[in-house]
Amino acid sequence: MQIITTKSALQAVVKACKQENKTIGLVPTMGALHNGHASLVKRAVEENDICIVSVFVNPTQFNNKEDLAKYPRNIERDAKLLESIGADYVFAPTPEEMYSAEEMNTTFEFDFAGLDKVMEGKMRPGHFNGVVQVVSRLFYLTQPDKGYFGEKDFQQLAIIHHMVERSSLAGTFGPLQIIDCPIVREDSGLALSSRNERMSAEEKQTALAISKTLFKSLEWAKSASVTEVQQRVIDTLNAVPGLEVEYYEIVDQTTLLPTDTFNHAIGCITVYCGPVRLIDNIKY
Ligand code: PAF
Repeated sequence: MQIITTKSALQAVVKACKQENKTIGLVPTMGALHNGHASLVKRAVEENDICIVSVFVNPTQFNNKEDLAKYPRNIERDAKLLESIGADYVFAPTPEEMYSAEEMNTTFEFDFAGLDKVMEGKMRPGHFNGVVQVVSRLFYLTQPDKGYFGEKDFQQLAIIHHMVERSSLAGTFGPLQIIDCPIVREDSGLALSSRNERMSAEEKQTALAISKTLFKSLEWAKSASVTEVQQRVIDTLNAVPGLEVEYYEIVDQTTLLPTDTFNHAIGCITVYCGPVRLIDNIKY
């Protein structure tokens, strides 16, 4: 496995792969890798000739400087894990390598067709502009046949599908298939997240109520309306000391707009567990 830190070195590798007709699978990450990321990488290794993993804590998608500073970073550990599961290249650039000073300080404009106006987009203005900025650049640099993303960040995934299917950016990175990968959970049900590292053992215990309540809501959905289930999830979790729900919205899986039926619906939640902001979701 080779670690690459410059765009030019990455493009040289990609050019050589294309000349040999090798397929490329890209797994974009921000590092602090866990078994959820590992499942994406293993799949990319299996389904492509070459697997490239990017490890880049993208500053332009953080609207909270403190969150950016606190984001866990451990490239040595990440590289060991990636090597052990068969990744071929790790692309780990500095922010200065990825962006000019101007790009770093201006909002990347993109037509989201409204997908950025709800849930995470509403709570973290500009977040998805940064995500699209970095992901489109990674697609441009690596020209992958397949890009792998986790369903835990469901809204991000919907936006990336939109970017690839309908946006003018699509022309800059060629034909590309986005592979949706299911949420990986601990045996306890807790969705794996790099942010879990920031929770104490007690907070982790408290956080178990989140997935438990989401799973219970599948039962509730058999005899209650969408609004009732939504409110019951919020009330149940807010009653747990140490948890505070930021939003729970049951929306259509494609438009991300509120829905009054459970057909093709997904419930997306953000909960503060102490100081740590956790997200999760459940399909009905
Ligand atoms: O999901 C993430 O880790 C990030 O948003 C991504 C897709 C790697 C872009 O920085």
